Amino acid sequence: MQICVIGAGYVGVVTGACLASTGNHITFIDIDQDKIDRLNNATAPIYEEGLQELLQENRKRISATDDYDAVADSDVVFICVGTPSRENGGIDLSYVKKAAEQVGKRLGERWQLVVVKSTVIPGTTMNIVKPLLEQASGKTAGSDFDVAMNPEFLREGIAIQDFMQPDRIVIGTTSQQARELLEKLYEPFDAPLYVTSPSTAEMVKYASNALLATKISYANEIGSLCKQHGIDTYQVMEAVGMDHRIASSFLRAGAGFGGSCFPKDVRALIATGGDAGQPMHLLRAVMQVNDMQPHRMLELLKKHVGDLKDKHIAVLGLAFKPGTDDIRESRSIPVIRTLLDQNAHVSAYDPMATDNMREVFPDICYTDSPEEALDDADGCLVMTDWPMFAELDFTGMAQPIVIDGRRVIPEEKRTDITYEGICW
Ligand code: UGA
Repeated sequence: MQICVIGAGYVGVVTGACLASTGNHITFIDIDQDKIDRLNNATAPIYEEGLQELLQENRKRISATDDYDAVADSDVVFICVGTPSRENGGIDLSYVKKAAEQVGKRLGERWQLVVVKSTVIPGTTMNIVKPLLEQASGKTAGSDFDVAMNPEFLREGIAIQDFMQPDRIVIGTTSQQARELLEKLYEPFDAPLYVTSPSTAEMVKYASNALLATKISYANEIGSLCKQHGIDTYQVMEAVGMDHRIASSFLRAGAGFGGSCFPKDVRALIATGGDAGQPMHLLRAVMQVNDMQPHRMLELLKKHVGDLKDKHIAVLGLAFKPGTDDIRESRSIPVIRTLLDQNAHVSAYDPMATDNMREVFPDICYTDSPEEALDDADGCLVMTDWPMFAELDFTGMAQPIVIDGRRVIPEEKRTDITYEGICW
């Protein structure tokens, strides 16, 4: 099939590269010339394991441009542009609207399918995207073209694997023709298809992310109580997760969830509930617990180090999770901010995310190795579970005080130092 992917961000590029690998022809449309050049040279514009290889293997079937004219020749158009947060937590639909207008202007003579992959609040595909396409094209949805909503469930770092071997593929459409086309497109991926309405598909995405975020905050709250009672919360959650109704993943207590999705999506659901006169009590609590975790790290640090003024504190881990350079909503951001507010000196280390964090905190010290960050430190906060941190020797610090936010330091490395886990 001929496929246009609007928006060459992380979702768009992964989607395009994976669909190219099953024999489809992909045209990426983006406004960023640098991304266009990279994609035309089969170079990944973002780091994602296996992506570069996929782009290279399928380079003959992949091109990129800033010109929407390619839409006219395509069978399917995927809208994969960003939906950032607004001040009130709701989402900003301006990129989606712009993309819909541009796509609408170029819809061709034959029937085509426009698929929304961006995470959008329920109702957006049918009430906003479809009318914009109709207005811009002068055509009628349901006969000249159709729309569908097809959410992504890709984790950064293993997005290619998540695309190739999904737990399920959700297709939201009211059109039989759209359903058949998407069934064919996804046939090579051995996964159950769940076909439903567009607004249900939109809600599935939010409800999935919000439940995963809820599991994490739940694990963190139980973890805090376990710590008070001297109980190992990881053992508790291991046994809890053996119940197949609960499942074991996303129950790892720690410094909380970050990234470009969970905080944004939970806030968007809270805002959507507010607009509908339906207060989202549980999800508010999920965010409250998450916001508290970085402060708990600092309280534990102060318990051992005392007043932080002029203290030298090492922060290990800046990315929101290991395997990425992404620092969006990273838990290390509020931690560093508070350390600076309390006049501590911060030495930070991350194997991938230093350059990104430099843009947020230009004036702290970034080191080339974790050992350098620990040198002369009066305390250390472990914020990301990079496996390399498990190998470190903390005994050479000025004061070997380690607050672990990710349960990454193994038992044998905890002897001879003052060690505290955030929830253990
Ligand atoms: C998340 C979802 O897992 C994907 O399914 C979804 O498609 C994606 O958002 C999205 O909406 O695009 P991602 O943001 O890449 O993926 O990150 P996760 O691996 O889910 O981790 C999110 C955060 O939760 C990280 O900060 C991680 O450290 C934290 N976490 C995760 C915990 O604190 N405990 C856990 O047990 C699991």
